Amino acid sequence: MGIRLIVKEPDPVLREIAAEVTKFNPNLKKLLKDMAATMYDAEGVGLAAPQIGISKRVIVVDVGDENGLVEMVNPVIVEQEGEQLGPEGCLSIPNLNGEVRRADRIVVKGQNSDGEPITVNASGYFARAFQHEVDHLNGILFTDLAESIYDISDRPKKGGE
Ligand code: CO
Repeated sequence: MGIRLIVKEPDPVLREIAAEVTKFNPNLKKLLKDMAATMYDAEGVGLAAPQIGISKRVIVVDVGDENGLVEMVNPVIVEQEGEQLGPEGCLSIPNLNGEVRRADRIVVKGQNSDGEPITVNASGYFARAFQHEVDHLNGILFTDLAESIYDISDRPKKGGE
C-alpha cells in the first residue's frame, strides 16, 4: 500500500486506546514500512499507527538526527526525568502548534518487528517525539497538554508528529 492516508482530528480512532501487538508477522513489517513512508512523505518526525486509522501500539520516529529511523512496537516509557517546554505539532492536527511540557530524558522499552526487546534512551527533541507518539497510543493529543496553542495555517509547516 505504501503511503497511507493520515487521519485528522476529530477522527474517533485518534481517541481510542490502541491494542497491544501480539503477532509479529509480515503484516506488521509491512505496516511499519508504510508508516515510515507516510511519515517521510508528510515531512513529519514521528507517526503512530492510529494516525493511519490502525488502532495498534506501533510507532515510528525519525527526528532527522544521528538516531535515524526508530520503529517500535508496544512502546512503554519506563523512566523519565527533567523537563523541557517547547513547540510541538501533529500531522493529524495540521494547522496548530503548541508549547508542551515534556520530560527531557526518557527510557523507552518495546519490541522490534521480530518481537525482540529493544530499549531506547532519548533526550531533547528525540524524547519529545517519543512522548508525543506514545500519547497517541493512549488517545492523547498534544492539544490536550499544551500550555498555549497557536494557529500556523499561514506559515510553512515542518516537524509534525
Ligand atoms: Co501527532
